[in-house]
Amino acid sequence: MDTTKKWWQKEVIYQIHPASFKDSNNDGVGDLQGIISKLSYLHDLGITMIWLSPIYCSPMVDNDYDISDYQQINPRFGTMADFDALLAQAKALGIKVIMDLVINHTSDQHKWFQKAIQDPNSKYRDYYILRPGKDGHAPNNWRSNFGSGSAWSLLPGEKNLYYHHVFSPQQPDLNWENPELRQALYRMINWWLAKGLAGFRIDAITFIKKDQDFADITPDGKDGLGKVKRKAENRPGIAALLHELRVNTFDKYDAITVGEASGVPYEQLTQFIGPQGYFSMIFDFHYADVDIESGSEWFKRTHWTVSEFKQLLFRSQLAIQKVGWGANFLENHDQPRSVSKYIKDPKYQNQIGATALALLYFLLRGTPFIYQGQELGMVNAKRQTIAEFDDVSSHNNYARALAEGYSKTAALGFVNQRSRDNARTPFQWDNTVNAGFNEGHQPWLGLAQHCDQFNYANEKDDPYSTYQFY
Ligand code: GLC
Repeated sequence: MDTTKKWWQKEVIYQIHPASFKDSNNDGVGDLQGIISKLSYLHDLGITMIWLSPIYCSPMVDNDYDISDYQQINPRFGTMADFDALLAQAKALGIKVIMDLVINHTSDQHKWFQKAIQDPNSKYRDYYILRPGKDGHAPNNWRSNFGSGSAWSLLPGEKNLYYHHVFSPQQPDLNWENPELRQALYRMINWWLAKGLAGFRIDAITFIKKDQDFADITPDGKDGLGKVKRKAENRPGIAALLHELRVNTFDKYDAITVGEASGVPYEQLTQFIGPQGYFSMIFDFHYADVDIESGSEWFKRTHWTVSEFKQLLFRSQLAIQKVGWGANFLENHDQPRSVSKYIKDPKYQNQIGATALALLYFLLRGTPFIYQGQELGMVNAKRQTIAEFDDVSSHNNYARALAEGYSKTAALGFVNQRSRDNARTPFQWDNTVNAGFNEGHQPWLGLAQHCDQFNYANEKDDPYSTYQFY
């Protein structure tokens, strides 16, 4: 392990899901001005860096993880002037900002993809992964990550030409084999870094390299498909791409980089976070996925025990400390609330449980990542119908569970437990309408349970509250 301290090892990072933090103009969606109005809250909490989930132009099929323009702000969240103001005002309080970098795929509304559709001779066809079908079907039997069926869809206007998408069909994967595409991405990244970002959280980055044989795999579900990650997650050849990415961008700015790098076995950690690693740190999902078998299909639940969880956590800590620095998290925008997930006894799914988890987590070695609302001990929502969910993977997981033979009640149960919408509910500021998220316009997503109990106004002066503990 390299023992010289890096500047980013001293940070406390707070993740903001902008749509759900604070809605300043009462249109139902959180926004940049809302975040600005709460900077003093964040400063008082003691955090030193904000990670903003994506705020780029996007049709919002996957909550802005489907980007249609990397260099414009989504008007739902505000303007570039608002963003610049956030950066400046945060800086004045000693708070740095990192953004989400989503470069495995774009939105199907991105101009590159649109040009690829419109013109068969366009160079943008090679920015994506296009393959002819096989006997009237998709080029192979890879199943997309969100459980949304095949990882291939017909390119609009074509009869036998498919494009590849690891996630939903509205998120076509970029072709990282194309050097020109890579350079275009590097220019965009450097543009943001030059603006004053401290770095990035880098989305789904272990998916950028696909096995170039594009071969069929043994099916692992009744749909005859097999998980795409078996052929597209952390595959041989990714090393050269990640190294090139680093030296062309992050290195030039001494930026902090936090890789969402699923599928990295502990034996390979050195390559990722060692002294010459691709990233400052990566999230380790081995312990976070203790409750599901495969990382993405929610009906495959495990019967995990607390001691198993402890072992996974210890294993993770020991593996990481041998080579580098950890990115510790209990929650993020893809996970259920930690109190609801890790605390089994309903008696403790409250401030006591949340505080116990906080104690455990702050004693881990590495950078703490606090997800908005975690500091209040916010709990899951409980939805009665699938229509109440916004998240694309919740709908797909529901359908997958039904297709595997589960009842509607059981399928809804899996989704309620695991849905990403558990973390995306409006932040609970106080006991006024919509928990103070806005002035009364219906929020884009319904509130979580017990919002009248677990909120900032209730907790701020209570010496035993989760907030006070944080
Ligand atoms: C990452 C993000 C998730 C998103 C997916 C596709 O896993 O955390 O929210 O849906 O990538 O971009």
